Amino acid sequence: MSEQPLRRLGVLGSGKGSNFVAIAEACARRELPAEIALVVSDVPDAAILERARERGVPARYIPPGRFRTKLDEEAEAAYVAAMREARVDLVVLAGFMRILKSEFLSAFPDRVVNIHPALLPSFPGLEAWKQALDYGVKVTGVTVHLVDAGVDTGPILAQAAVPVLDSDTPASLHERIQEVEHRLYPEAIRSLLAGGITFKGRRALRLG
Ligand code: GAR
Repeated sequence: MSEQPLRRLGVLGSGKGSNFVAIAEACARRELPAEIALVVSDVPDAAILERARERGVPARYIPPGRFRTKLDEEAEAAYVAAMREARVDLVVLAGFMRILKSEFLSAFPDRVVNIHPALLPSFPGLEAWKQALDYGVKVTGVTVHLVDAGVDTGPILAQAAVPVLDSDTPASLHERIQEVEHRLYPEAIRSLLAGGITFKGRRALRLG
């Protein structure tokens, strides 16, 4: 059992929430010295909200505003306010399909993490498993990284490889990638909170 105080995680997601579930279960098993303080989605009927509520985790839909790929200014301020009210130590993106801009990122400097379904810097952006299959790589994988102002460009915290099989379809490859995500994401967050991850020799996170 860890001696660390429980850290508060704020999760943002747009989809089915399987990574949220993996993180919540790691918290419940005390493998991750953290609790999920709030889940926010930009999609009103996203399954992640239901997955959170059935576990007793506060869950809110916050309208994203008028853009398709990012939050508008008012929405971004509302997302920051929600995370601050929930007193989160770390913001965890779990299938959140919008780009966060500087207002959000400067409110949580070096405290926003993302999971991406490829070995960055290969295949940033959407449907990375499909990009990998279309390109014909033999190995792809999963990356956990800090979020910066670029698209899938922030400091890499953890990676794991997934072989591409000749028989793979986009769906079968994404399914195997997700199995790896569910193991890697809680583990990377655990190491990050413990101060055990460095990027180019610099400690990736310092919590007070
Ligand atoms: C995950 O595969 C995650 O890597 C991907 O969305 C899926 C969300 O699944 N994220 C991205 O592609 C971000 N660029 P989930 O809702 O079941 O956790």
